[in-house]
Amino acid sequence: MRVLIIGSGGREHALAWAIAKSPLLTKLYVAPGNPGTAALAENVPLRALDVEGIVKFALEQKIDLVVPGPEAPLVAGVADALAAAGIACFGPSAAAAQLEGSKIFTKEVADAAKIPTAAWEKFTDAEAAHDYLDEVGAPIVIKADGLAAGKGVVVATTLEEAHEAVTAIMEDKVHGAAGASVVIEQCLVGEEISVFALCDGEDALFFGAAADHKRVGEGDTGPNTGGMGAIFNPPWATQEVLDRAMEETIRPALKEMVRRGTPFRGFLFAGLMVEADGPKLIEYNVRFGDPECETVLPMLSSDLLTALKAAAEGRLSEVKAEFAAGGSATVVMCAKGYPGAYATGSEIYGLDEAGAVEGVTIFHAGTMADQGGFLANGGRVLAVNAVGVDLKQALGRAYEAIGRLDWEDGFCRRDIGRRAVGI
Ligand code: AMP
Ligand code: GLY
Repeated sequence: MRVLIIGSGGREHALAWAIAKSPLLTKLYVAPGNPGTAALAENVPLRALDVEGIVKFALEQKIDLVVPGPEAPLVAGVADALAAAGIACFGPSAAAAQLEGSKIFTKEVADAAKIPTAAWEKFTDAEAAHDYLDEVGAPIVIKADGLAAGKGVVVATTLEEAHEAVTAIMEDKVHGAAGASVVIEQCLVGEEISVFALCDGEDALFFGAAADHKRVGEGDTGPNTGGMGAIFNPPWATQEVLDRAMEETIRPALKEMVRRGTPFRGFLFAGLMVEADGPKLIEYNVRFGDPECETVLPMLSSDLLTALKAAAEGRLSEVKAEFAAGGSATVVMCAKGYPGAYATGSEIYGLDEAGAVEGVTIFHAGTMADQGGFLANGGRVLAVNAVGVDLKQALGRAYEAIGRLDWEDGFCRRDIGRRAVGI
C-alpha cells in the first residue's frame, strides 16, 4: 500500500513509525512531516491545510490510503475532497468532524444519544451568559463553541473568574468568531482519561486509553498546553470504566452520527472524566491525541495499517487491536516559555544516547534538521516514550533518556505519571 500521513508533530511521527512496520506498506509519505518522519518516510513539502495540494499529490502518486493526523485539515474537508477524488482516507468528513469543531454540536449529539455528560446551556448573548452565571455560581466551566487552539475552555473556580471568561470570550472576542457562542456547563470532578476508538462509520474498535497531563506546571498547575506527557492505561481506567466508555460514550455517538446522515470514520477520541458513578464525556476529538498517540502506539502489538485499511473500507469487524502487557509513558520536552512565547533554533544534543536507553523511542514533535544535528523548532519539541514491564519502569526509562539529552533551552514536567504510580 502507498500511504500518505498528513501532519508534522510527534503524533504523526508515531503514526509513521507504526505504519512503517506494516507488511502491507510499499511506500510512505508524510506531508509535511518532520526530521523524525524523514528517517522513516519521504517528507512532502505540503502544508497540512493545503487540501487541494494534498488531493493532487495523492492522485499523482496513486496513494491507497491517506491518514490525517491533526483536526484542522479534517474540519477543512480533506476527507471529503479525497473521497470526491476516489481516494480512501482514514478520517471523518467535515460534517462528522464537527464533533470536535463545535462544542455545541458535541453537546447536542450527547443529549440526543443520551451520553452521560455535564449539564449545559448555550449562549450567544453575553448579558444572558452573565445572568446565568449569577444564578448557578461556581465552580463552572465556560467553553468557546469553535476551535480555539485548545485554549477555549476556562474551568472557573470562582464566580469572578467565570464572569471574566465570558467577558474575554464573548465581549473581547479573544478567540475571534470561535467565541461568538459559548457553552456553560457543570464542573465535573474526578480523574481524566482519553479513550480511543477506531471507527468505520458504524462499528468501533477500542484502541487504547491514556491519561494526558495538560497543565504546563508540576502538580497540574499553570496554563493548559497541548499535553506535557501521557501514561498508558492509568489505574483509574479500569476494565469496567473502559467497557462503559465504549458502550456509553463511543457507540451511541456513532449511532447518532449515522442517524444524522454523517457517519463518523476515523479515530474517535473521547475525553472523559471518571466520576464516582462512571465516565462522563468532556469532549470528543476527531483524531488521535498527542502525546497519547506516542504512548499508545508503542504498546500496539497488532498491525496498525491493517486495522486502518479495514476501517477505511468499512470492514472493521474483520480486525482486532492487540496491546502488549506492561507500561508506557511519554514525557514531552518543550522549549522554555511554552505555552507562551518561546525561542527556536537552539541545538539539541544527545538524541542518540537518549534513544539508546532500553525501551525508549524518541518522537520528534518540533525539530529542524541542521548539518547532521537537530534544532528546536516548536513549543513541544520531543516526545520521549518508554515502554517497560510496568508503568514505573517505563517512567524510569523515559526520565533516564531525558537525563541523557543535552538541550539548554528545553524543559519538561518531572512528575508525569506520579499520581498513577503513587510516588
Ligand atoms: P478541552 O480544551 O475541551 O480539552 O478542555 C480542557 C480541559 O478542561 C479538559 O481536559 C478538562 O480538564 C477541563 N474541562 C473541560 N470541561 C470540563 C468540565 N465540564 N468539568 C471539569 N473539567 C472540565
Ligand atoms: N493531548 C490532548 C489532545 O491531543 O487533544
